Amino acid sequence: MKSDPPPGRPSRSSFLRQIGDRLLPGHRASASSEREGADPWNVDEWKFPHDGTAREQLLFLVNFAVLAPSVLNRQPWKFKVVDERLLLFADRERALPAFDPNRRELTMSCGAALFHIRTAARHYGFEPRIRTFPNMAEPDLLAEVTLGSRIAPSTLDEQLFMAIRRRRTHRGELETSPVEDGARAGLVGAALAEGAILTFVDGQERTAIAEAISEAQKRLDDDSAYKIEVSASNIPAVGSVEKSHKVLAFGEWASQSVDPGVPAMQAPALAVLSTTSDTVPSWFSAGQAIDRILLTAREYGLFASFMNQPMHYEDTRKAVADAVGHDVPQLILRIGYATPPPPTPREGAESVVKDI
Ligand SMILES: Cc1cc2nc3c(=O)[nH]c(=O)nc-3n(C[C@H](O)[C@H](O)[C@H](O)COP(=O)(O)O)c2cc1C
Repeated sequence: MKSDPPPGRPSRSSFLRQIGDRLLPGHRASASSEREGADPWNVDEWKFPHDGTAREQLLFLVNFAVLAPSVLNRQPWKFKVVDERLLLFADRERALPAFDPNRRELTMSCGAALFHIRTAARHYGFEPRIRTFPNMAEPDLLAEVTLGSRIAPSTLDEQLFMAIRRRRTHRGELETSPVEDGARAGLVGAALAEGAILTFVDGQERTAIAEAISEAQKRLDDDSAYKIEVSASNIPAVGSVEKSHKVLAFGEWASQSVDPGVPAMQAPALAVLSTTSDTVPSWFSAGQAIDRILLTAREYGLFASFMNQPMHYEDTRKAVADAVGHDVPQLILRIGYATPPPPTPREGAESVVKDI
């Protein structure tokens, strides 16, 4: 049983009616959802300042950026509006020196936030103009966004936008039903649209990757600096979800004595996201790709969780590269149908917008 229907191609008017049906109750209940202290997941999309200034409109988009996935839910991004430009910075203060020493996953997380911004801008009828790395003297400035020309959002734009609030990382048990070829192709296409490569792995390749996951996890479990950073993260307490979720909770492998290679083998689908180079710009693109994949997955009724352990060591990362036949793997996803888990808490836009 799938939790959501696969993506259809409804007419624009019926699609908009569906959006209204789904959002209106929330809209009524959360008229003040952008107030400081309100749950960021209840962002009230109808409050977009259509008649406001570009600055007000860009700041509103940050409400959607904060819902992006990020490594250990660090939300390692900062935003600033200067003139009519929204600036996206990597927030070094939220880096994880032991877990993510090159800030590879931090940069990917910022890419995911940018994809949320791009998606929300299109929903509100703007073709966002993006300049990545606009100032070489300021390496933490990853992108500059202006609203660009007016557009009519497509059905795909609206589907991606709707998925922003329905996406969650699902570390729990997945249904056993296989992920259909059409859905696999849709996710591969989502990666390609952002210049990345998604490879589904089965058979010997999957076994090799599961072994790399198990091996890397053993090493991580012996790394006390990594364990301190993970235990300080604000990932929801394992006890707050049902037992099946507990088995796969982030950073809990050691205490549960669970070999993560087992769920990697059992998952309905396992896929590796790769890029063609291993540079800061390619990490930033990979982040946008992973976000497009995760939002697209929701349209197929799918959820995903990350199994990136092998990326932390050269030899296990190489084993993944050899298995998929692409030199630069960045992330590993376990994918399947499931019942939606509760959302992971977020800090709202007010805590990541600086100097306003
Ligand atoms: C680049 C990146 C790497 C991540 N790595 C892992 C991981 O290795 N294991 C894991 O369980 N979750 C991982 N996550 C998922 C985050 O923990 C998750 O996005 C965050 O806790 C917020 O929860 P949500 O995705 O349900 O909103 C990663 C997310 C990103 C963007």
